Amino acid sequence: MFTKEKIQSVYQGEIIGKEVIFLESTTSTNDTAIETGRQRENPEGVVVVADTQTHGKGRMGREWISPPGVNLYFTVLLKPPFLPQNASILTLVAAVAVVSAIRKHTKLPAEIKWPNDIMINGKKAGGILLEMKSGKDKINLIAVGVGLNVNMSLNEFTDEIRQLATSIKIETGSPVDRVGLLAKILEELESCYKIILQGDKRSLINEWIRLNCTIGRKVKVQNQDRIMTGVAENINENGELVLRLSSGGTETLSAGDVTILKAVS
Ligand code: BTN
Repeated sequence: MFTKEKIQSVYQGEIIGKEVIFLESTTSTNDTAIETGRQRENPEGVVVVADTQTHGKGRMGREWISPPGVNLYFTVLLKPPFLPQNASILTLVAAVAVVSAIRKHTKLPAEIKWPNDIMINGKKAGGILLEMKSGKDKINLIAVGVGLNVNMSLNEFTDEIRQLATSIKIETGSPVDRVGLLAKILEELESCYKIILQGDKRSLINEWIRLNCTIGRKVKVQNQDRIMTGVAENINENGELVLRLSSGGTETLSAGDVTILKAVS
């Protein structure tokens, strides 16, 4: 069973999950969460979970396929006391939390592909979409949306993404309890968020580096109309990728689609 009561019976957080909204179906949990946040005096910690989304949103205007009964689609609202330009660290927070939770709950070797793809055995199992509402120097609201393919089967993927995508069930060979996994992710998210609130950005970045599969690899990066190849050298304090270009010099990127070409020895 995937219900609000079941979620709240296995997870109670101090910050995250103070209010859980469960919907059988919604357009996009990010949109519902942002709308809900506008109606709350303090939206921090509200979690919107849906069994299915009719207009699930992926990065770069793409669609996030969201069939019912199988996966996790949820959004956590945060209102951190940072400047808007420092908000991208929350992408790293979410990626570290999701990957740590998958590793602990399933023992699968989940990894982060920059900036926020959740990979298992080289295929994409999930993604994170951060949306922010802010003024000039104040964050009003951040929606951290997570989509994770949990019990989806290969035949449920479109032909276009079947080669590139996977789910936890495909990788382990058996279905996983969605509520238990959601609880673990929220737990990890709360502990990573607390680390950031305490100002310990470095330990979060170190954890991201430990769990990532991008740094040290030869990669191709598509950033809007530009395609670059080079070695993913590092991520900086803002979560940006430092790319050593094959054509010489370095480029610091805040967004893009990464394809891993090979390991560099
Ligand atoms: C990506 O493109 O990798 C990011 C995918 C993010 C999908 C999740 S599902 C829950 C939340 N609601 C949305 O509409 N999108 C995010």
